[in-house]
Amino acid sequence: MKKVSVGLLGFGTVGTGVVRLLTKDKERLEERTGCQIQLEKILVRNKNRARKVLIDNRKLTTDVYEILDNPTINVIIELIGGVDQAYRYILRALKNKKNVITANKDLMASYGEELLLEARANQCDLYYEASVAGGIPILRTLTDSLASDRINKMIGIVNGTTNYILSKMSSEGLSYEKALSSAQRLGFAESDPTSDVEGLDAARKMVILSHLAYSIPVKLADVSIKGITDVTREDIQFAKKLGYTIKLVGVSEVSNGAIDIRVEPTLLPDLHPLASVENENNAIYVHSEALGQTMYYGAGAGEGPTAVSVVSDLISVARNIALNVTGNHIFIPKKELHSRKDSL
Ligand code: HSE
Repeated sequence: MKKVSVGLLGFGTVGTGVVRLLTKDKERLEERTGCQIQLEKILVRNKNRARKVLIDNRKLTTDVYEILDNPTINVIIELIGGVDQAYRYILRALKNKKNVITANKDLMASYGEELLLEARANQCDLYYEASVAGGIPILRTLTDSLASDRINKMIGIVNGTTNYILSKMSSEGLSYEKALSSAQRLGFAESDPTSDVEGLDAARKMVILSHLAYSIPVKLADVSIKGITDVTREDIQFAKKLGYTIKLVGVSEVSNGAIDIRVEPTLLPDLHPLASVENENNAIYVHSEALGQTMYYGAGAGEGPTAVSVVSDLISVARNIALNVTGNHIFIPKKELHSRKDSL
């Protein structure tokens, strides 16, 4: 049986969920992959901190190079977040011919293409299902299940924090500030919630989705972004009276050789399927030529849902290792569409 030796970077909420799944389902993971999966090392900031899950203290390290340069480790799971450090670590891991799994949407939205090319050059996998919509298997859907079709439009509620805030302002009449602190307490919001409420987080996710759906290079600068900071309780109540719900949605569409991506608070008729997506949940509506409309719904953040996506990526990588193949998710854009924003 081949060995998959994992180095985990980061032991926060999602890291804890990953350790739980790896420990609980060890035998099932082996059955499903044909590999022996071993969690070798975990990068932490402080080795003595109390943990929510039982772990052998000898696995913890504060030295990232004990993981990145460790010849026995063949898969790195990056869960430290942020861009610069994560970029350097992932690049080094790929150059050291390690497969990489990441949940880092900020990084993948900015450097995804470059890192995917680096993975390809080193015959490694780079999987990142958890970077968009937490537990919803949307990247796999775009790259695998819908591979035979042409996607022409996606509408996504891809930020749980803002969806939670707008839902609570609507259903409980909470003020924006109260709803935001409640989202922060529940742990959906980013450490600095500015990127959530100003629409950047959703825009990054729409960049990743658009890249995969259309196989084109997409940049954050291609997205028109407006967040929810100006939405008031009165706006929400007024829309409600008229039969509409206000949601922060990301729209990405291709028509006449141009791509149009925008994130903005939008009035959805109450009967629209996205209007009933409440609280921190996410949903992505996809329109493709032959299949027509499909919608993918579920938990967009949190320990369990995000860890499921990460560990399922690990299963894919392990299966590739077992078969001696790589690169199932390597999508390198072939053509360029111009952004409609450029011509405005
Ligand atoms: N802050 C993000 C959200 C977390 O609220 O959706 C998951 O990406």
